[in-house]
Amino acid sequence: MDLQRYLEAALDAAYLARGIHLYYREKGFALESKTSPTDLVTQADRESEEAIRSLLLERFPDHVVLGEEGGQEGHSDFRWIVDPLDGTVNYAHGFPFYAVSIALEVGGEVVVGAVLDTARGELFTALKGEGAFQNGRPIRVSSTATLIGSLLATGFPYDVAKDAENLTYFQRALAKGLTVRRPGAAALDLAYVAAGRLEGFWEVKLNPWDVAAGWLLITEAGGTVSGIQGEPYRLGNRYLVASNGKIHEQLLDTLHGR
Ligand code: IPD
Ligand code: CA
Ligand code: CA
Ligand code: CA
Repeated sequence: MDLQRYLEAALDAAYLARGIHLYYREKGFALESKTSPTDLVTQADRESEEAIRSLLLERFPDHVVLGEEGGQEGHSDFRWIVDPLDGTVNYAHGFPFYAVSIALEVGGEVVVGAVLDTARGELFTALKGEGAFQNGRPIRVSSTATLIGSLLATGFPYDVAKDAENLTYFQRALAKGLTVRRPGAAALDLAYVAAGRLEGFWEVKLNPWDVAAGWLLITEAGGTVSGIQGEPYRLGNRYLVASNGKIHEQLLDTLHGR
């Protein structure tokens, strides 16, 4: 399989999305809410997804695209999984931590992943079996082996008031004196674990488009991604725990109050 060709398409699509993100940040954009007043969507989300879809389906007419804003039409062994703008709330405020995430799944396995930080221009890529890269340079997870001394991150679902489960996990981590951030863009949080900037990350209500590319980045960078009980991660599992591998058990123990 010519993974390089698929990666090229993913990058062309990601840079198109970057142009759209930057354009609307300059020009201004309309804001709407989706499932709750804090669950925002902008023209930039919608137009980026449209642009990504058109490019991918023009190059690969027999593939399908699953995107956060437009869902999925049809079925194919080749499925692109797209978050056109991860970190919409950050984007809406001009807080420069947001990204576009594009992954290709072939026969149920993610084989290409790209996360582009569209504010900074940092690019994270991975190809199955060929490693993970930041702007073309190989990256590895960090070698820190203790939770004290680790930088961790998490995220909260938009309906956290109704669904407070992660508050329990968050509190357990803080109660142990651990350092935990809540950056606000899951795909980029995962890329940061792959790049060794974070030792661990967890979240409880993720969607495939938040995770697909970052999951491959971490596994190719030597890290571990699991479900909340430590079981191997599978796309569609809304709970995810990711780490450099060395702190994984300790992080799971902490989340479960052990
Ligand atoms: C959200 C971000 C956020 C995470 C939420 C996601 P969106 O994605 O990744 O960090 O906590 O669970 O829904 O809506 O900005 O693409
Ligand atoms: Ca969203
Ligand atoms: Ca997202
Ligand atoms: Ca999104």
